[in-house]
Amino acid sequence: MHPLLEKEHQQLFDLLDAIDKCVSNGDSANQVYKYLRDFVALAEEHFKNEEVIMKDYEYPEIINHKKEHAVLLDQLFIFKSKLGQGHTPFGKDYIQLLRNWLEEHLFGANNRLDYFFCIR
Ligand SMILES: [Fe+2]
Ligand SMILES: [Fe+2]
Repeated sequence: MHPLLEKEHQQLFDLLDAIDKCVSNGDSANQVYKYLRDFVALAEEHFKNEEVIMKDYEYPEIINHKKEHAVLLDQLFIFKSKLGQGHTPFGKDYIQLLRNWLEEHLFGANNRLDYFFCIR
C-alpha cells in the first residue's frame, strides 16, 4: 500500500474509535460533532489524495472507486450538518454503518488498488 494512504486509513479508523468512545461515554453531542467534523475533513482530504495517486498511476478502476468516495462523502456531509443542527441523535448504529463502510471500502475497493500497486 502507498504509505500516505495507509497512514490516512489508520487515522480514519482512529477517529472512528474516538467517536465510538465518545458515544459510549455519553459525551455531549458537541464533542461527538467535533470528532465527526475531523473525520469528514480527513475523509475528504484522503479521498482527494487517493484519487490523485490513482490518476498518477493510471489505475483502471478509478471511476468506480471515485464514485464510492462521492457516495460516502455525500452521506457524511448530510449527517454532519444534521448533527450540527442538533437534528439527529448520534447512535452506535451510525458508527457501525461508518465502520462497515470503511472496512468494506478498504477490503474491497482499496484491496484491488493495493493489488494494482503490487503487480505494476
Ligand atoms: Fe482509501
Ligand atoms: Fe478509497
